[in-house]
Amino acid sequence: PAPGWSVDADVVVVGSGVAGLTAALRCEAAGLRTVVVTKARLDDGSTRWAQGGVAAALGDGDTPEQHLDDTLVAGVGLCDERAVRTLVTEGPGAVRRLIETGAHFDETDGELQLTREGGHHRRRIAHAGGDATGAEISRALVEAVRTRGIRTVENALVLDLLTDSEGRTAGVTLHVMGEGQHDGVGAVLAPAVVLATGGMGQVFSATTNPHVSTGDGVALALRAGAEVSDLEFVQFHPTVLFLGKGAEGQQPLVSEAVRGEGAHLVDADGVRFMVGQHELAELAPRDIVAKGITRRMLEQDTDHMYLDARHFGADMWEQRFPTILAACRAHGIDPVTEPIPIAPAAHYASGGVRTDLHGRTTIPGLYACGEVACTGVHGANRLASNSLLEGLVYAERIAADIQERAAAEGLHARVPVPVPQPATPEHPLMPPEARFTIQRVMTQGAGVLRSADSLAEAAAQLGRLHAEAASALAENGKTSEPGVDTWEATNLLCVARVLVAAARRREETRGCHWREDHADRDDLNWRRHIVVRLNPDRT
Ligand code: SIN
Repeated sequence: PAPGWSVDADVVVVGSGVAGLTAALRCEAAGLRTVVVTKARLDDGSTRWAQGGVAAALGDGDTPEQHLDDTLVAGVGLCDERAVRTLVTEGPGAVRRLIETGAHFDETDGELQLTREGGHHRRRIAHAGGDATGAEISRALVEAVRTRGIRTVENALVLDLLTDSEGRTAGVTLHVMGEGQHDGVGAVLAPAVVLATGGMGQVFSATTNPHVSTGDGVALALRAGAEVSDLEFVQFHPTVLFLGKGAEGQQPLVSEAVRGEGAHLVDADGVRFMVGQHELAELAPRDIVAKGITRRMLEQDTDHMYLDARHFGADMWEQRFPTILAACRAHGIDPVTEPIPIAPAAHYASGGVRTDLHGRTTIPGLYACGEVACTGVHGANRLASNSLLEGLVYAERIAADIQERAAAEGLHARVPVPVPQPATPEHPLMPPEARFTIQRVMTQGAGVLRSADSLAEAAAQLGRLHAEAASALAENGKTSEPGVDTWEATNLLCVARVLVAAARRREETRGCHWREDHADRDDLNWRRHIVVRLNPDRT
């Protein structure tokens, strides 16, 4: 839609998690006119929900090289080693700068407390408030953004990228609700756009992600003609509180750090089934634990397993894991006296908008960082607690790149060409209720365990949803009323279709992509990425 109002800036940051707010703070500190736009409130994204912590080689005897090794092993041959090396070498400094920005991490005698999580051979996860790391990071960054007076627009759903006649970034269009002069559809015009919109967990019925994680950034990038990579690698967190069969929406996480501190996974008979499956047992990389749990659930014909940490005792539970303790008790489970029922649920998109080591996408002036991006650090399976770190490190690199660009050539406003209307038969707007159909289809066909048949069925059902909306528009001009729910359902369908197409193509099992009909890893044919570009005409 044509923008009804516009705001000018040097940089517009879309999203307000760790990646977005770090990018905004560094851009503002460099003297760039920076605007942050975010779909709900500043602290409503995924960052606030992160529990375990931030991984970085900060402990005695630990080195970036060891962190690199663990990350490469978890990524199962598909990490970009240069991107990982950048992450692990710049990570400790980025964590220290986050602390200088105001985040308080747990310490003993002035030293950071470090825990372990799956796939890490060392204690290297810094945490805050016990198990409330994301909440503390979010608090500190939001406070810093407010103190610095950075302009923010909340309740602003990003719609599309604006480009000039040469395909260079010119800004974004937004749908804003209830923000006075910025109500309705408008635009922020800026020659640098940083996508930091987070993930797409809401594409599945049960996820640890909040309601807002609907793949908006990836869908925008696809519509704009940017390259997107590795979407088939959806990470399922092994231990999500099991709230009963068919539970939908955001589910409470039970952090890997609980296993890092010694909790055991047990089956319906109380047997520790991960022992003997991997040298690290319960602390194997996340994909291996999620598969181990799913296999044992199938063997025992049940829909959950248990995490047993009764031996922690009440004091440790209260001090080290207060958030998880409260969430369990709110659902009638007391981890001090009983094992916690758990099952895997969608958690993290390892793929996303493809970037280089400076966070640049394939569209000039468009950057991506955090979960929306595919920098190459995660490969086929992200190592636990590397996500907050990636957000920090690559946000800083993006700010540095924009600053260098500004110094070298200046940041010049671009004249945007009109964006294609979304409500065309090729790109119909989806009705809000399509969200739930998409979630059910994806959970059944493209969840933890996939096959050619399940994926073909998912592709067909998603195709039907699209065709129904397209023909309603083509035949009677009928389309859904534009609004946040409509855009979100449209974005979910867009990313779900690309995800399923990639999962169908990858005929092997690797990392978090598990194919029943191709049970082995196939390095000969598949040690490569699936890169998608939907709209080559737009750039
Ligand atoms: C957790 O605390 O288990 C989540 C950590 C992560 O997703 O990296």
